[in-house]
Amino acid sequence: RKVTKIAVIPGDGIGVEVISEGVKVLNHIEKLDPDVNFHFEYFPWGCEFYNKTGKMMDENAMDVLKSFDAIYLGAVGFPGVPDHISLWDLLLRIRKGFNQYINVRPIKLLEGVKETLAYVPNDEIDMTVIRENVEGEYFGAGEWLFKGTDKETVLQTGVFTREGTERVIRYAFELAKEQNKTLTSISKGNALNYSMVFWDSVFEEVSKEYPEVRTQSYLIDAAVMYFVTDPKRFEIVVTSNLFGDIVTDLGAGIAGGMGLAAGANINPEKEFPSMFEPIHGSAPDIAGQGTANPLAAVWAASQMLEHLGYEEWALKILSAVESVVQKPELLTPDMGGSGVTGDIGNLIIEYL
Ligand code: NAD
Ligand code: IPM
Ligand code: MN
Repeated sequence: RKVTKIAVIPGDGIGVEVISEGVKVLNHIEKLDPDVNFHFEYFPWGCEFYNKTGKMMDENAMDVLKSFDAIYLGAVGFPGVPDHISLWDLLLRIRKGFNQYINVRPIKLLEGVKETLAYVPNDEIDMTVIRENVEGEYFGAGEWLFKGTDKETVLQTGVFTREGTERVIRYAFELAKEQNKTLTSISKGNALNYSMVFWDSVFEEVSKEYPEVRTQSYLIDAAVMYFVTDPKRFEIVVTSNLFGDIVTDLGAGIAGGMGLAAGANINPEKEFPSMFEPIHGSAPDIAGQGTANPLAAVWAASQMLEHLGYEEWALKILSAVESVVQKPELLTPDMGGSGVTGDIGNLIIEYL
């Protein structure tokens, strides 16, 4: 039997609590299906590790992770360690180092979910955001000049390469074509007179290769309004790294909250492992209370199985999630229930 090697990085805060539910579900699938054989290896990296060692991960972390088929991550970052250190030394380092340049974030309001700020029926929110994931505003380049003087000036350089911009836009076009959906680009070419003018021109260019895909282009400010007032305008969405970060938290807000929003960091060439995670953070405000919603982590596990070629199990997990959200009273407080994190994995398992 083929062994699928999964590196598990639970990380910080509720990351640890939600990942354990996801692993429960995966372990159960392994029991049900003789063709599935997971090998999990746990890595205790994160802010506690940093407080002990001065590093977020072991020195050879990237080499070690490279040999895995996928990475399953909880959340990173906790009060006490500056966020730009914890994130740049772990999450962003992996995304960049493994060239996971596509971030796939589904925004789907499931039947039965009541926690939404959108004013539409449930079946009218079903989109997939393709976020550029390694460059743009997150390139990490900049300068801090004249520190502490009255001329203090800080530059944060967004870097948009031809290669990086084209490949994410093309990926989104392929997806839209395959799923027969519209593709919307979200940008800001009116004010960002280099990066977003370039983005828009590449979108326009690539669109000529896909005459069958219906396209739209929105400015980010208008787009976020329509996310709330008229989300059915959007099917496949492609956008830059920072805009994608922001619109997907709003997406969570219109589709059941942070506890339901998952993301896949994909290296399409499979040259390196891809990474799957809930898009929320470590939630220090509720960490340790057993009230975190693990459904986003479970959804991310479904994305991982899809990527690894277990499409049927991926769909089964999703439909189990759709079933449990019909019973909000059994779920965590964010879903309106009085359930605890540690019980949700078993609820999912009952439906598998
Ligand atoms: P957050 O996503 O951790 O929390 C935002 C709000 O959503 C909080 O009120 C939290 O209680 C709630 N929430 C989030 N996930 C939830 C869940 N599963 N169930 C129920 N409620 C949930 O964002 P933040 O507070 O801005 O950030 C906290 C830390 O996490 C920071 O250090 C930040 O840098 C880091 N962070 C990490 C990631 C990641 O690892 N991918 C993502 C976002 C933030
Ligand atoms: C996310 C997170 C990260 C991001 C942070 C923690 C660096 O917010 O995955 O959405 O901005 O990409
Ligand atoms: Mn985010």
